[in-house]
Amino acid sequence: MNKINHSKLEPIEKASLDELQALQLKRMKWSLQHAYDNVAHYKKKFDEAGVHPGDLQALCDLGKFPLTAKQDLRENYPFALFAVPMDEVVRIHASSGTTGKPTVVGYTKNDIDMWADVCARSIRGAGGSKSDKVHVAYGYGLFTGGLGAHYGAERLGATVIPMSGGQTERQVQLIEDFQPDIIMCTPSYMLNLADEFVRQGLNPVESSLRIGIFGAEPWTDAMRQEIELRCGVDALDIYGLSEVIGPGVACECIETKDGPHIWEDHFYPEIIDPASGEVLPDGQYGELVFTSLTKEALPIIRYRTRDLTRLLPGTARTMRRMDKITGRSDDMMIIRGVNVFPSQIEEEILKLDECSPHYQIELYTEKQMDKMRVLVELKPQYGQLSDEERAGVAAKLAHNIKSYIGVTAIIELRSVGGVVRSEGKAVRVVDKRSR
Ligand code: DLL
Repeated sequence: MNKINHSKLEPIEKASLDELQALQLKRMKWSLQHAYDNVAHYKKKFDEAGVHPGDLQALCDLGKFPLTAKQDLRENYPFALFAVPMDEVVRIHASSGTTGKPTVVGYTKNDIDMWADVCARSIRGAGGSKSDKVHVAYGYGLFTGGLGAHYGAERLGATVIPMSGGQTERQVQLIEDFQPDIIMCTPSYMLNLADEFVRQGLNPVESSLRIGIFGAEPWTDAMRQEIELRCGVDALDIYGLSEVIGPGVACECIETKDGPHIWEDHFYPEIIDPASGEVLPDGQYGELVFTSLTKEALPIIRYRTRDLTRLLPGTARTMRRMDKITGRSDDMMIIRGVNVFPSQIEEEILKLDECSPHYQIELYTEKQMDKMRVLVELKPQYGQLSDEERAGVAAKLAHNIKSYIGVTAIIELRSVGGVVRSEGKAVRVVDKRSR
């Protein structure tokens, strides 16, 4: 573990747990009251559950309040959950989602300020400083990634290169020309960029990039190692979701690289049993739930993220960490009764030296049975393998998936470029099953 430079931290990052919890309680009381007084939906839900903001005497009382789900945001589309008049809302973002109406979120000027602060804190925690140039390759627009990272880097005093997603060839050219120190994009897009470096006759390890701050999609520690090795950067994990603020809800610290620290002075985490809704103790796996403590335009109370993880004690900072997200409950594939997450398949793929991290999982129906096909690219240096050798690699991967995960997979090994590349969030599962 690298030494922590305490002089660079905000006081709350190194406060005692007591101090942190006292601040959280004060803010939580405010947030519940703000939601109750200003959002009809929360007033109705609290009243129906027989709870009142005044019932919160301790942090653990939060568990008495009703949970909020994505459906609640959809039912209040577009602006009915806003707790301030529209003329105080200075920004709207929305997440597209795969089905139904998008989820709309709003920000006051103070919300934008707080968001910039937590993103600046995240970049600093990841090892960045005002003397760095930050290449932002998260998409700009309704998606929160680009603008969130942008405001954070600017708040830190760094130099922002607002590249946005896409135009991969040009991204590499600008990285070569502008010599940024930090890149912010999805981990799958970083791998896409690494391939583009090679295509242009460049070695990504030799680029100016020192740090990558990756998030917006699940990625395993095996993927971290792969990116660090291929790109010569420290790869740090940043987490967030639009409903809570966007990127910067939590971020990993360079000193420990042991899971994102949750910026708990603004976002209070709980883990619940996804089936019963019961609050679970720290250390146990379940669904991550957030309550905003300071947000004005869209206070969010006990929001079910669908992300599965567990809470761990603070290390580089007082605030708790979250473990790597194993998956989203809605990404879980149920293949003939076995629950499988794409991250488990990713781990098996990356154990084999021949396989690249570009993969996609296809689910389909054959003779009324669920089937899983895993499309994986071979690394370029294994492009010349004979048919027999390829069959050997495929058989080994299928065997490992069967023995470690318990499902039968048909492996299709493809040459470089054979699996669709990500320009933002990677699509890991294509479900073609007949219902
Ligand atoms: O993805 C915000 C973001 C942008 C985070 C850039 C980090 C970097 P949404 O589009 O609303 O917001 O998607 C949120 O993405 O519930 C997780 O399922 C997933 N996700 C985000 N960060 C991570 C991460 C942005 N570090 C959803 N690891 C979340 C795993 C992540 N999953």
